[in-house]
Amino acid sequence: MMKRTLTLITAVLLTLVQAKALPVQQRQIISIETENSSLVLLVHENGRLETVHYGAHLDSPEQYLQRSVKTDDYNGQRGDTYPATGGRFVGEPALHVRYADGNHNTELYYTGHQVSQKEGCTSTTVHLKDYVTALEVDLVYDAYRKEDVILQHTEIRNGGNQTVELLNYASSSLYIDADEYLLTHFHGTWASEMQPESELLGHDLKVIESRRGVQATQGNNPSFLLSLNTKELSETDGEVIAGALAWSGNFRISFERDDSHRMNILSGISPFASAYPLKAGATFQTPEMIFTWADEGAGEASRNLHRWARRYGVYGGGQINPTLLNSWEGAYFNFTTKTLLGMMDDAAGMGLEMFVLDDGWFGNKYPRNDDKAGLGDWEVNKKKLPEGIDYLAKYAHGKGLKFGIWIEPEMVNPASSLAKKHPEWVVQSPGREIYQGRNQWVLDLANPAVQDFVFGIFDNTMKLAPNIDYIKWDCNRVIQSFGSSYLGSEQDRFFVEYTQGLYNVMRRIREKYPNVIVQCCSSGGGRIDYGALRYCNEVWTSDNTDAVCRALIQYATSFIYPACVMAAHVSAVPNHQTRAVTPLKFRFDMACAGRLGMELQPKDLSAEERALADRCIGSYKKYRDLVFQGDLYRLASPSDGSYYALMYVSEDRSRAVVFTYALAYEARTVGGKTFRLQGLDPSKDYKVSEQNVDRSCWWGDGQSFKGDFLMGGGFNPVLGSRYSSAVFLLEAQ
Ligand code: DGJ
Repeated sequence: MMKRTLTLITAVLLTLVQAKALPVQQRQIISIETENSSLVLLVHENGRLETVHYGAHLDSPEQYLQRSVKTDDYNGQRGDTYPATGGRFVGEPALHVRYADGNHNTELYYTGHQVSQKEGCTSTTVHLKDYVTALEVDLVYDAYRKEDVILQHTEIRNGGNQTVELLNYASSSLYIDADEYLLTHFHGTWASEMQPESELLGHDLKVIESRRGVQATQGNNPSFLLSLNTKELSETDGEVIAGALAWSGNFRISFERDDSHRMNILSGISPFASAYPLKAGATFQTPEMIFTWADEGAGEASRNLHRWARRYGVYGGGQINPTLLNSWEGAYFNFTTKTLLGMMDDAAGMGLEMFVLDDGWFGNKYPRNDDKAGLGDWEVNKKKLPEGIDYLAKYAHGKGLKFGIWIEPEMVNPASSLAKKHPEWVVQSPGREIYQGRNQWVLDLANPAVQDFVFGIFDNTMKLAPNIDYIKWDCNRVIQSFGSSYLGSEQDRFFVEYTQGLYNVMRRIREKYPNVIVQCCSSGGGRIDYGALRYCNEVWTSDNTDAVCRALIQYATSFIYPACVMAAHVSAVPNHQTRAVTPLKFRFDMACAGRLGMELQPKDLSAEERALADRCIGSYKKYRDLVFQGDLYRLASPSDGSYYALMYVSEDRSRAVVFTYALAYEARTVGGKTFRLQGLDPSKDYKVSEQNVDRSCWWGDGQSFKGDFLMGGGFNPVLGSRYSSAVFLLEAQ
């Protein structure tokens, strides 16, 4: 007994003796700045790194050195810039590591930092290190000065000689201090994506997450707005932080308000089933989290993100993509060469600029005549299209149209030659049912052989005809019964490496095909995120083409993503998803607020409807540069179901386009509905012309008005009936 006690005491004493000393540092400030915002980090004497400010730009951030603070927070190290599980920290961790010996403690301390300049951006890398193990973390901040946007990602390096497990590995952690936090985020489902929801956050943990693997954004979008010190989301007033994660797989964004009332926002890959094994000597790089801070409401926050996205965040951002006719809702799987040529004739006749052949063009042994067969067998269906894709593309080009085609390369139908040939390529868990979704399985992109195959599908499709201009990349189910035959016992890598595999493929595609326009579709808006948009020019915003539903979906999407990525199509009535009937003009006016397209059989339009279509397409071409490149101002929210209005203004404020819609009948519209325009030059005279009508619904049509008059309440078009709408072009005189 005596001997055992002695051994124990010796062990404890030894540990105490061996405990490493905390580092000693020079107290200093690291200020990460854009034109109008500052993110200020404070290095304490003991090397602890604390986030002390994210908000308005500070000219003297070093004054934070004078503020009296507790170096050690006995209640849990609140305010840590990148809090790790272990030591004193007891909250939600940005980093949680399990070491080979089973230990869970990491305590990160500052070891140095560097600043460098890139195009339009100042990059700051802060080095942190655990004071006991050889784990190192770099926090990388890219501050885009003009756009007021800061990107953060993290690089975690295992400098030891044994594998460690990353249980949590956030891209970013952002501590902020306010009295009230109003969170707005975007949930949804198929045909109802990006539904905005706002709630005041209390002292608890709020999590936005996706565990779908692919189609990750059909439920929640990895983005949010946090309005500070207010109970209402305002377009024009108050402090707002907006954030979006550039990742197309499982994500998790959490908001934890601790007992100091401060809020920590953690953003990154979801740790769900993803305890990532980081081998000795390896580095894990997280995806980027994109932040902006604005003090003029959500409108300004969105404009900051949009400007950044058009310049840096979206492939070909701000480039004007062509108007198009897509074959899906007009023909579905039932077409022949003749059907498609007829559609192309009509598309060209209406002034559209591209024809896109959607699903149904491939498979012979297992023909793609419905959604039950063919995925995986990407050869042209000889029965439907004996002349081949080349013939169709040439015909389109001959008519002055660009040509695009649909693929869904990540998927396979059990009824396909591919599923028979490579059953091991299917995402699956040994011995379990491989559940089908839309009659299909998911291919395992964690496997490099599958990555090659998926790249090959894109590559071979591009070779079906010279000059294919556009690829619609679809992805129509979520991952279930997850697992990878390729990864063997390391299944924890699956979700992360699936998405990395997808990006590997997309990177290769962009190296080989820099100019092809790629639409990112996933049963509509199931993959709307800045990770995919690094490679894709636009998204299929939703399968719901009902213009009334689109009002809310497009409005909410615009909080985070710019209009240049938002594909919006005019479809037939009754609408195929909702059965609703709305006027053709209303449908056009809604679609013209994004990248305009049509998705119907043009032969079904009456002569009068055709004439209206020609007119709307013609006028769209006059102002679409504003939609693709202008600054967005949301004037009225469709959330309450009465009106929706928005406008885009050119950077020099010389031109603008205003879209107004009545979603319900309201008696008060008899006298006109006042919309206060925004973003104009108050002293400039703007000539206002309503588009696509013979008789305008506004008394001032065709005349010029000062910007201050239009912004001050002088603009009041009469949207007299439900689903009436009007589009106005404003040109400075
Ligand atoms: C889902 C897409 O969202 C639709 O636009 C269409 O391409 C179908 N898939 C085709 O199967």
